[in-house]
Amino acid sequence: MRKILFLSWLAFIVFHSCNKVTKKENLTNEVVNTKITPVVVGTWNFPKAIEAAAEVIKNGGSALDAVEKGCRAEEANIENQTVGIGGLPDRDGSVTLDACVMNEKGDYGAVVGVKNIKHVISLARKVMEDTPHAILAGKGAEQFAITNGFQQEDLLTEASKKAWEEWKVKSEYKPIINIENHDTIGMLALDAEGNISGACTTSGLAYKMAGRIGDSPIIGAGLYVDNEVGGAVATGLGEEVLKTVGSFLIVELMRQGKSPQEACEEAIKRIVSKPNSNYKDFQVCYIAINKKGEVGSYAIHEWFSYNVFKNEEIKNIKSDFYLKTK
Ligand code: GLY
Repeated sequence: MRKILFLSWLAFIVFHSCNKVTKKENLTNEVVNTKITPVVVGTWNFPKAIEAAAEVIKNGGSALDAVEKGCRAEEANIENQTVGIGGLPDRDGSVTLDACVMNEKGDYGAVVGVKNIKHVISLARKVMEDTPHAILAGKGAEQFAITNGFQQEDLLTEASKKAWEEWKVKSEYKPIINIENHDTIGMLALDAEGNISGACTTSGLAYKMAGRIGDSPIIGAGLYVDNEVGGAVATGLGEEVLKTVGSFLIVELMRQGKSPQEACEEAIKRIVSKPNSNYKDFQVCYIAINKKGEVGSYAIHEWFSYNVFKNEEIKNIKSDFYLKTK
């Protein structure tokens, strides 16, 4: 009788172990069989940035590395007067940069009001990864950069100095709609592992008051990522994005079931429907991505476009916009 009981117990154990192995194998297969198509999206038509980010993603790199590389390409682009070296200065003639990153774990790092350091996106990442803090400002951020071997250089190029000197003649401080094909660069990526990260870097408003910080380095405003849902990033007049916490709003709307396109449209509607909004005089644009790799965008005015890398192809797409009648 004891022998029978022992053999039954043994048979029970063997049966359940085999069953567990089979389930585990099925699980592994499910993960292996779900092939994710990586996607990178970036504000405006910055070819160098999207190419650099695409290169990382194509080679199996992480979404975080991709958006950092993409933003770095633009920070180093001397011809771009809204990001990194060559950015237009504040009203006193100082170029000050703002940037932030978010990774798939929901970590966030930012730097604001940084002078003489071009690659503020990498500095923001360093704040996120190597300090117990989320934001470093001004001199403290610069000191942190120097300690970590970042190169110091004069960011005011001849072209930007000339533009500032021309502006000084009238010194009109009036943020206008950006109908040019460039502004802040914000990037979002979904990598082959299915992880989403985002980055945003800017020299801010041209001829801003010294000390002014816009939306770009502020979590939930210029950028927000939740790896369960998706990410969003903004460009345009930062004050309006800050006041509506636009990127966080978009991600939360996607969490509630809206598509990236619907969520971007709703975030723009929040701005234009505010009482006494003078939205005809400024531009705000959003791009967003969800976990399926679907992308959306919306702007107040015409002329906003964004770059997408997907299926080995880079495309520049003209965004839909709110103000159809002028
Ligand atoms: N969106 C950039 C800024 O307002 O600073």
